[in-house]
Amino acid sequence: MPELIGLRARFFMVIVMALLMVVVNNVPSVIHFPIVKRVPSCAVNLAAPHTYPPVALISAPGSGNTWVRHLLEQATGSFTGSVFEDPELFEGGFIGELEDWKSGTTIVVKTHTRNIHQMKHYSAAILLVRNPVTSAISECNRLLADQRHLGTVEWDEETVQSPEFVSLIQETIDRWEDVMTTWLTLFTGPLYVVNYEDIVDNTVPEMGNMLRFLNVSEDVGRMECLKSNIEGRFHRHVVHDQNSVEFKVVLHIVGDVEVRMARVSSLLTRRGFKPVDPVRTGA
Ligand SMILES: *[C@@H]1O[C@H](CO)[C@@H](O)[C@H](O)[C@H]1NC(C)=O
Repeated sequence: MPELIGLRARFFMVIVMALLMVVVNNVPSVIHFPIVKRVPSCAVNLAAPHTYPPVALISAPGSGNTWVRHLLEQATGSFTGSVFEDPELFEGGFIGELEDWKSGTTIVVKTHTRNIHQMKHYSAAILLVRNPVTSAISECNRLLADQRHLGTVEWDEETVQSPEFVSLIQETIDRWEDVMTTWLTLFTGPLYVVNYEDIVDNTVPEMGNMLRFLNVSEDVGRMECLKSNIEGRFHRHVVHDQNSVEFKVVLHIVGDVEVRMARVSSLLTRRGFKPVDPVRTGA
């Protein structure tokens, strides 16, 4: 009898092992391993020479031009260029910064020009429009912080009453109107106008519209790159509404900002574009 039990036990073990083998062999088809999602490459590259026509990314200084370049680079995988050749931006990863802006290696070219001769070299342009007061605040912060792109400074009474500060603000607002007027009246190529404030509010759809203007088809992977890296390295985190000290200082120095905005808005709406953003009032 003990022998019989031994046999039964052995028989039982063989069955169990056979079953185990079947299970083990079928593991891949039975168990669903977590699917490894292909991570899209968010690398950005320079295009071969003459790939792109020269398209201006034109704005007044302080209007978020560098941030929009970052967004375009994420959304397309192509570097953006510039007429400025700013070594700080190059070192910060804007590899297109030092390219010859006429070479066609970058998808757009940053410029603040009001020069008609330079304007004639562009086959198309994206005009980035920002409220002039917040543009001036942003530009002034940059200049006061010794050209550091992330700089912001205290607007204490002594600073804002100095003649240098007052003329800096005046010149920045003058230049804002001049850049807007020049491009809205004299540029004859295809012109796309986008408000900085709309890009802040609706980054992804606004960038999609910009890609359509650039004849770049929207790539799902690249749009994921954009969504996961909206800020970039050179976007100052400052919100200025109409109740901020800075806003009031600029309005005080430049008494006719509203008139200037109305003039530019009228040029914009006449061509079917949105007026200048008045900047939302405080929360
Ligand atoms: C996009 O393509 C159209 C049609 O070919 C062309 O007219 C237009 O200039 C192109 N836009 C840009 C920004 O290159």
